[in-house]
Amino acid sequence: MLVQPFDNRPGDIWYDGGLVPWSDATMHVLSHGLHYASCVFEGERAYGGEIFKLQEHTERLIESARLLDFEIPYSVEEINEACRLTLAKQGFRDAYIRPVAWRGSEMMAVAAQHSKIHLAIAVWEWPSYFDPEQRLKGLKLDLAEWRRPDPRTIPCKAKAAGLYMICTLSKHAAERKNCADALMLDWRGQVAECTGANVFFIKDGEIHTPDPDCFLDGITRRTVIDLARARGIVVNERAIMPEELAGMEECFITGTAAEVTPVASIADWTFQPGEMTKTLMNDYMAAVQPGAAVAAA
Ligand SMILES: Cc1ncc(COP(=O)(O)O)c(C=O)c1O
Repeated sequence: MLVQPFDNRPGDIWYDGGLVPWSDATMHVLSHGLHYASCVFEGERAYGGEIFKLQEHTERLIESARLLDFEIPYSVEEINEACRLTLAKQGFRDAYIRPVAWRGSEMMAVAAQHSKIHLAIAVWEWPSYFDPEQRLKGLKLDLAEWRRPDPRTIPCKAKAAGLYMICTLSKHAAERKNCADALMLDWRGQVAECTGANVFFIKDGEIHTPDPDCFLDGITRRTVIDLARARGIVVNERAIMPEELAGMEECFITGTAAEVTPVASIADWTFQPGEMTKTLMNDYMAAVQPGAAVAAA
């Protein structure tokens, strides 16, 4: 399948304060963000013309930058407004929104105190992350060789470009084995998350999900936990060892892109997507609709 390249599409991108034609939204090859990964981003989704949990995404973007020791020169309100403006300009109802902030090219060295901070926001129409038929069957996942790092080695709570290096490696390895994605363990060998989504398990009517102490506590993850608790389902956030997966009945992943997607297998462990997963899939799809009364975050 030929994918329309991302550097030449119709419409505009918001870039450092205003809309510019899509193909003009470029940066210099000597940008610090490119060489040293001083770059943070968000992945948001609009449903029916409204960006789901925009405020939380923008707050996380600003916090990710702070964790990388830089300040985005726009307020939460200005960034929210820029996201809405770009979505309206592109004219999509159901879309993916990608704000990205990075250090510019004023300094070309590890230190970058005087580099300008840039912010761009691109919006494109985006179908379901995984093939819908495959979604109902449940995904086949690999077990990644790379592990989520010790929080003492990296700002693990930032949605920062550098943290995705091992995700790309793991995803490529998974796809080479005909898997949709890979489950990553953490530095201690505990179950952590997938390359772009959080993971949940169901056993004896209760939900179990890893404590997000060294990886992204996804906005979808928190939404799904609220939705489950609103139904009276017990949610255990705790350390999960991979050996425990043998006893888990259902498994699903969550993320802005993945939404709630059932999992059929992780390496040799198998699961049966069941009623509780289906219920949470439906609850989530209802919650993202404009005007829905989403469970309090
Ligand atoms: C590594 C990783 N974990 C988890 C998530 C899920 O986060 P969210 O639900 O906020 O999209 C994402 C997606 O942004 C991700 O990239």
